[in-house]
Amino acid sequence: MTGETYAAAPDPYGLIGHPVDHSWSPFIHGMFAQQTGQNMVYRLYDIEPASLEKQVVELFASGVRGLNVTVPHKEAAVAFARELTPRAGRAGAVNTLILRDDGTLLGDNTDGAGLVNDLRQNQQVVLRDARVLVLGAGGAARGVIAPLLDQLVREITVANRTGARAQALCAEFHDKARLTACGFDAIPGRAYDLIINATAASLHGVMPVLPNGLISTYSVCYDMAYGRGMTPFTEWATLQRARLVCKGWGMLIEQAAVAFQLWRGVRPDTWPVLRALAQYQ
Ligand code: ATR
Repeated sequence: MTGETYAAAPDPYGLIGHPVDHSWSPFIHGMFAQQTGQNMVYRLYDIEPASLEKQVVELFASGVRGLNVTVPHKEAAVAFARELTPRAGRAGAVNTLILRDDGTLLGDNTDGAGLVNDLRQNQQVVLRDARVLVLGAGGAARGVIAPLLDQLVREITVANRTGARAQALCAEFHDKARLTACGFDAIPGRAYDLIINATAASLHGVMPVLPNGLISTYSVCYDMAYGRGMTPFTEWATLQRARLVCKGWGMLIEQAAVAFQLWRGVRPDTWPVLRALAQYQ
């Protein structure tokens, strides 16, 4: 006996995407792990679509316990899960893979819960009975429609540059009475309680041309994109004097918290992470 003690190796987790080098997830999960005393490590894996399946199999074979999934793999990741949670099934996309005791993978999608938790808990936004406008009809929009309907919003208008894509997306949901699809030029020109930018337009530095009158002094405008400074969407909303203008930092942190709880069974406190990341916004 040497008297030495050996610490258990940390449980490995990570993020798969392409690219991933911009990701804040290692920082966020690192803070959660420290705060809750979890022995884990979180790494970034930049994986090209062509080798996705092979590399995911290898990662789990090497001992990885769970993965987050980001652009462009969220829809492809559905195929890796033996079972999907209802919310991942409705979103048609997976952002969290959980290795179960029997060796199979459960696919979940925590993006919508992340948005709803940020809006309700951090921004104090009342969703019940709200009139919501979602801009965009891609993967980001798809993930948030059902969670917003679950919050008993009064109606959701999904507006997209390509109107037909908004129509196709809305047709996938059963709640036809509360969903309207249109192109940007056909958005009913009246103020909304909540406007969510789920387009990739901010990432390209542009703001779509929208009708006047969508924002009033009670409107909340939420850009799912995050980054430093204003985006074209938050500038547009601020100029029109929206009541509250936010970017997606809180959603990023809240979706991570839900994934962390799925993996580790403990709910982390998101406030210290929100505070820590505020300086980068
Ligand atoms: P994601 O999975 O991130 O949502 P996506 O599936 O490529 O990505 O969808 C991107 C969304 O941003 C779409 O709604 C797209 O509109 P189209 O369906 O008309 O392509 C929207 N988008 C991208 N660039 C845009 C721009 N410059 N102006 C307006 N909308 C844009």
